[in-house]
Amino acid sequence: MSVKYIEDEKKFILETENSCYVMQILYGRFPVHLYYGAKTDLSGMNYVNPYKSFSPYFESYGTEYSPDVGMSEYSYFGCGDFRITPLRIQNKNGDSVTHFTYRSHRIFDGRREIDGLPFASADKSTQTLELTLEDSVSGCEMQLYYTVFEKENVISRYVRIENKSGSDVKIEKLMSLMLDLPSCEYDMISLYGAHNAERSFQRVPLFHGVQSVMSRRGASSHQYNPFIALCSKGAAERSGDVYGFNFVYSGDFLDEVEVDQTCGTRVQIGLGSENFTWLLESGQSFISPEAVMTYSSCGLGGMSSNFHRFVRKHILPPEPFERRPVVLNTWEACYFNIDEKEMLRFAKSAADAGIDMLVMDDGWFGARNNDRAGLGDWYANAEKFKNGLKSFADNVKAYGIKFGIWIEPEMVNPDSDLYRAHPDWCIQCRGRESMLSRNQLVLDMSNPKVLKYLKDSFAKAFDGVGIDYFKWDMNRHMSQVGSPALAPERQGETSYRYMLGVYDLYRWFAEHFPDAMIENCSGGGGRYDLGMMKYSTQIWTSDNTWPKKRMKIQYSSTLAYPTCVMSCHVSNPKNICENPDELRYRWHVALNGALGYEMHLPNASDAIKSTVKEQVEKYREYEHLILKGEFHRILSPFDSNYYAYYFTDSDYAEFLLSFEQSYGESPVRLALALPEADIGAMYRDTVSGQVFEGSALAKGITVKTSERDPYSVMWHFVKEK
Ligand code: GLA
Repeated sequence: MSVKYIEDEKKFILETENSCYVMQILYGRFPVHLYYGAKTDLSGMNYVNPYKSFSPYFESYGTEYSPDVGMSEYSYFGCGDFRITPLRIQNKNGDSVTHFTYRSHRIFDGRREIDGLPFASADKSTQTLELTLEDSVSGCEMQLYYTVFEKENVISRYVRIENKSGSDVKIEKLMSLMLDLPSCEYDMISLYGAHNAERSFQRVPLFHGVQSVMSRRGASSHQYNPFIALCSKGAAERSGDVYGFNFVYSGDFLDEVEVDQTCGTRVQIGLGSENFTWLLESGQSFISPEAVMTYSSCGLGGMSSNFHRFVRKHILPPEPFERRPVVLNTWEACYFNIDEKEMLRFAKSAADAGIDMLVMDDGWFGARNNDRAGLGDWYANAEKFKNGLKSFADNVKAYGIKFGIWIEPEMVNPDSDLYRAHPDWCIQCRGRESMLSRNQLVLDMSNPKVLKYLKDSFAKAFDGVGIDYFKWDMNRHMSQVGSPALAPERQGETSYRYMLGVYDLYRWFAEHFPDAMIENCSGGGGRYDLGMMKYSTQIWTSDNTWPKKRMKIQYSSTLAYPTCVMSCHVSNPKNICENPDELRYRWHVALNGALGYEMHLPNASDAIKSTVKEQVEKYREYEHLILKGEFHRILSPFDSNYYAYYFTDSDYAEFLLSFEQSYGESPVRLALALPEADIGAMYRDTVSGQVFEGSALAKGITVKTSERDPYSVMWHFVKEK
């Protein structure tokens, strides 16, 4: 049992393998928070209310209970808690104050599903606590959900509101997770960035006041990832307390943290309020997206390992093929200059190199000869593909490889048949000039007519073609957010309804093309989030394929997400790189995730062609570790000139150790330790042929840094029988 209720103390205990979460119903009315952290002795654990002057209290309980100072399970705007609020609902009286109190609870196996949204799937050991609360003035009922994923040390949180008032109410702010911690001695880790520079690592001490990261862009975004962590001051890869948080959603979000007057910390994850309101009619309910949290006493590595196992087991779709295809993507080599003849040259060169799939990127449809036209017109360009898509796909497959294709369903160019016919199908605000970005507008995915058009078009274009893979792109953010299909009082729902539409289309693709895999992309990694991971086997990590920059993006992506989703290409677009050593470095950096190529392989020299072939063959020896193994970081490229990490299998019989330098330097010696190595065994490095004692690997193998630029080393240790 991972959820327990102690009736006489009115306490709930949520237990995972290595963590424990405790709450209590104070005075039979108020759900207060007692503890979240490592497993500990719970006896005598009680609510503390460090009362401060100026904090409101109810007459009946006096200063023993003030929502402003103690730790709560959830809080409400205007109820005497002046900290950041997770909930604001405007009632029929016009004010937005609520105060929900406990009514009942239920503990059940599995979880409550969330209609229309991605959520973590339950397994046999999953259990859920449902707390039902009520607020008599607004006439709303609320359920707080705590779903416990025991083995992965993850607890997920989501909230349901039902309006039983007899009149409409408006949800003005809704957060899925609120967590109060008794200390503020933490650093906050967040991942900021930009297009081509996603997920830069940032670690800063918490300060008194509110600190937040958010997206108002209609996508989780390159600029801020929804993942954040709070870690104890000295926390490192393998030591220290770390709390990790994330959101199973791909649109606008808000992660808020406040250090308050008691030196406690409140964390909130959810939809926020800037691009979200919801008119909840009487008798209707609204359920929030799911937020997840994990705790580890084993540092950042412990947190990452919890999240990696959780994402693999409970978020990602099943692997579509027996083995993950290595792709040859045409974008950087061709841009829009593609046609059947050229693509078949790519297909042949891919097959010759042992690559599994040709991915034909942008430029194959409508009048798409540049990025100014064609988006929305999903039929093959008849000049480029004279015999149609099916005949072309058959010709690709005749080389014995798979066929993937690029799409960008959510967008439209003003220069397109679709836009000319339906200008009202775009996100827009009445009376306001819409703005362009990459010459495109955003389709109103909240409008069922748009969804129907897209499903019909894609069915017509792709049915029977035998497409094995879709690269689903999204290349602009939303401005002037509004929907002509929604009533004025529902305009604040546009951004959220847009995401519901996007997820509906993702599910349609999965059902309609059950044999195809989806690679998600948003100008690289602009929607690198748990919502997209529910439907995408892998995500294009960044448009930046320059290895020295990529290293950093990849390092930070592994904090919250497993390496098997990280799509990593060896890029050499115009075959400028003729040096097999340099190509080896690019390949080596790409071995952090699912391998692919982005180069003009048909025009490459024989030396490069055979290097690529060798690389693909070698990757086959490692891919089980990269895609399914445990992943551990050793050195961070944000702290130094080096990125070092390793993969290992569950028996620690194999280690793939990687050391990469960003630039050449005057040499020094470093030790790279593999603490899981069997100290009684011998390991052979299949790269150099050298044999090492397991105890030496556990202590640390020495690497000498180099003046050479670029420079990298890798070892593949296999335990000797
Ligand atoms: C985005 C993607 C690229 C490529 C182009 C095509 O920028 O990230 O990989 O697909 O779109 O237009």
